[in-house]
Amino acid sequence: MGSQIHGTQDFDKTKRAEIKFSDEAIQIVQKIISRYPEGKQKSALLPVLHVAQAEFGGWLSPETMDYVASVLKIKPIEVFEVASFYTMFNLKPVGKCVLEVCQTSSCWLNGAEDIVNYIEKKLDIRVGETSKDGMFTLKVAECLGSCGSAPMLQCGASYHENLTYEKVDAILENYKTEGKLRSYTDLDYKNTL
Ligand code: FES
Repeated sequence: MGSQIHGTQDFDKTKRAEIKFSDEAIQIVQKIISRYPEGKQKSALLPVLHVAQAEFGGWLSPETMDYVASVLKIKPIEVFEVASFYTMFNLKPVGKCVLEVCQTSSCWLNGAEDIVNYIEKKLDIRVGETSKDGMFTLKVAECLGSCGSAPMLQCGASYHENLTYEKVDAILENYKTEGKLRSYTDLDYKNTL
């Protein structure tokens, strides 16, 4: 079944057997699914994938996608098709904090490239890579809708705006001190259901 997701990747049946939502996560997932009519649970796929990504280390492994398919009673390939389409889903392991620096017009004109270079140098990584301590992955993103506060970056549910090198230093230090995985579901997710 897993090979339907990643034909060329090994599918680890042992890992798959270990994947299970926590009690809290399954409650959230069930609430999401209950929004849709019987038999239409596939409509819950996007929000459920966000919960899964937050729950299982910040990325969606083939085993996690297979699990999500079983929860929603759909085919694994249907999960992969959606997960691989949206840039918010990571199909490879990432750092605890994924830094997405906007590189579109307003941010670019206001120094996004310098911010990217600065982070690359500071973390000793290039765009797309993860720092050696596993804390940060650096990505670039298209307009994140905060053009009036350019340059900016997103990390999980948080926006960091009007960036300067000093602000970047403080942001990274803060995340490092917290040391926790940041996800798109961080901001009062349960209250939005
Ligand atoms: S151009 Fe960067 S947020 Fe819109």
